[in-house]
Amino acid sequence: MKAVTTFPLPDAAVALLSQVATVAGPDGWRGELGDADALLCLLTDRVDQALLDRAPRLRVVANAVVGYEHVDVKACAARGIVVTNTPNVLTEATADLTWALILATVRRLPQAERSLRAGEFHGWGFWDYLGGDLTGATLGIYGMGRIGRAVARRAGGFGMRVVYHSRTPLPADDEAALAVSRVGFDELLAASDVLTLHAPATPETRHAFNADALRRMKPGSYLVNTARGPLLDEAALAEVLRDGPLAGAGLDVYEREPAIEPALLQLPNVVLLPHVGSATRDTRTGMAMLAARNAHAVLTGQPPLTPVPT
Ligand code: DGY
Repeated sequence: MKAVTTFPLPDAAVALLSQVATVAGPDGWRGELGDADALLCLLTDRVDQALLDRAPRLRVVANAVVGYEHVDVKACAARGIVVTNTPNVLTEATADLTWALILATVRRLPQAERSLRAGEFHGWGFWDYLGGDLTGATLGIYGMGRIGRAVARRAGGFGMRVVYHSRTPLPADDEAALAVSRVGFDELLAASDVLTLHAPATPETRHAFNADALRRMKPGSYLVNTARGPLLDEAALAEVLRDGPLAGAGLDVYEREPAIEPALLQLPNVVLLPHVGSATRDTRTGMAMLAARNAHAVLTGQPPLTPVPT
């Protein structure tokens, strides 16, 4: 059997897969698809009909990230190919990065650092580098899956009230344990001092934060997105950052990665990160290992550990 990877795997993942298959890639991986039984891939690899046509023996697409909008899951199901992803292992790292981005955005850390490096720090200034406050403010969470809940858990430490909006309500016990309450979309926009996005990219969530929604956000509030770029309209975001009502935004993901809306690059009140939500050594190793375990399970006739819903 053959497992093809589109990215370098840790030695332990290669060792696991080598028990049942030869491992090919990442160099020249496309050329290896003809007799591939397993494909280990990333969000930058489009797994569509054309790719599947080139891989007639494929039994498993072990996607090494949690999002799977780049995989044609229906086409895979029609061919009997199992698709897996990597939930859980990246939840805490992504929630941590979300808070790093919230703090960087609200307290304007990148602007302050740029100013210091430009030689503009001439001593402590009472009215210099002022940002917003988190204590007593309302955190709004759009999408209350694993990462949304991990972000909510951390909010208590900052003394914030938390409201959320999601298709499915949390069980009452979970709401009580997290000290969160569910609100409608309009209230989420109007009440949140900091609004953070944690929903997947689907046709339903695409541009949920369009010009109309963004204009209805609370004056002086902040928007943070560590989920998926297409949830918001970047051009409209640039307008509300320039003309109000938003005070700032922090983005880790983009509509058309790696392209960034040029207007955003010109604005001082937006913090822009290069999609690093899960980028810790242990987390990325955990994601690669889970993908390898999923591929190994399918190739040995076991149920996959973390299949995506079909
Ligand atoms: C994912 O897993 O979908 C991420 O965006 C990469 O951390």
